[in-house]
Amino acid sequence: MKRIAIIPGDGIGVEVTREAVRVLETVGDCFGVTLELAHFDWGAEKYLRENVTLPEGALEMLRRDFDAIFTGAFGDPRVESNKHAIDILGGMRFGLDLYINFRPVRLLNDRFTPLKSGCRRNIDFVVFRENTEGIYVNAGGQFKRGTDHELAIQEEFHTRHGVERIIRAAFAYAREHGRKRVTLADKSNVLTHGHELWRRVFKIVAADYPEIEARAQYVDAMAMLIVLDPGQYEVIVTNNMFGDILTDLGAALQGGLGVAASANLHPGRTSLFEPVHGSAPDKAGQGVANPIGAIATVALMLDSLGYSAAARRVEEAIEAVCEAGAVTVDLGGTLSTAEAGVAICQYLRR
Ligand code: NAI
Ligand code: MG
Repeated sequence: MKRIAIIPGDGIGVEVTREAVRVLETVGDCFGVTLELAHFDWGAEKYLRENVTLPEGALEMLRRDFDAIFTGAFGDPRVESNKHAIDILGGMRFGLDLYINFRPVRLLNDRFTPLKSGCRRNIDFVVFRENTEGIYVNAGGQFKRGTDHELAIQEEFHTRHGVERIIRAAFAYAREHGRKRVTLADKSNVLTHGHELWRRVFKIVAADYPEIEARAQYVDAMAMLIVLDPGQYEVIVTNNMFGDILTDLGAALQGGLGVAASANLHPGRTSLFEPVHGSAPDKAGQGVANPIGAIATVALMLDSLGYSAAARRVEEAIEAVCEAGAVTVDLGGTLSTAEAGVAICQYLRR
């Protein structure tokens, strides 16, 4: 039995999470997987009503009582500061030390890619994004704010410990999954302190994996090459910001933000699973959001909990509805969010 914390969040996060839960319940019924779900209403609504973001003791509770956390998305136009999202999502990523942001970029159907030469065979890689350091630690400051002479400093942090563990995770994944090449994305030609550390540690770690080809590329060149020749990538490892950007690019190649899945992991600990997309205020409340990103995230979560056969079945179901065109408007279909979720569950029950 596994216990899962469900935090739908805001906007379409709520709508796609409903479908993810439908799939989890179907998996429970069909494949003998026993899951206990507990729902939490953390998000903009609660923040505006009670001034609470991540409740006190939440991290300890999650770590103690749950095997995994599933979230939809956080972000609401009424919260201009984005404080609740930073507290809740950042709080969990940093507070639970979820140092691996794992994002597969896999084309589900040849019709979905904007690349002329793109096909399922050549769009299939995974990104290991460092998730606890880099430029997102929010260190820095502002001086003479609002004047003509104002100064803003945003500092980028890279520790040997942090860099080494994400690079090791990427190589370990490659070995375990029969991937033959790991590519580092950095900007060490210009960022000669922080990114030089990445390149040095990359070489050291690569020596422990002689059967895997280790290549380093500058991130600007990689952005170009991911578009021109995505087939060369199997596993990409990179820092927090570059991973953020490259995975949105990856999401575009695989059919858009509506289908992209991600996991925030610390092996052996309670980890967090979420679709890549945000709360999409432009689509919220209309029942048009694509639930596939959230449901593919369910597959990642099941796999990580040790239910790999069930995870594979969910992936097959997603591929089947894509092939049949039983999808939402963003993928050229006509289904609502709920209908698209139901279509996947019907396939699972067959
Ligand atoms: P977004 O991902 O919410 O939306 C970008 C575009 O993609 C929009 O046009 C949206 O309609 C579309 N889109 C996204 N997911 C979709 C889906 N499942 N089906 C169909 N279309 C989809 O990113 P945006 O607009 O930059 O941010 C909106 C809010 O979400 C902001 O408050 C932002 O801070 C937050 N956000 C939260 C994230 C998270 O919780 N992990 C990640 C990214 C943004
Ligand atoms: Mg992003």
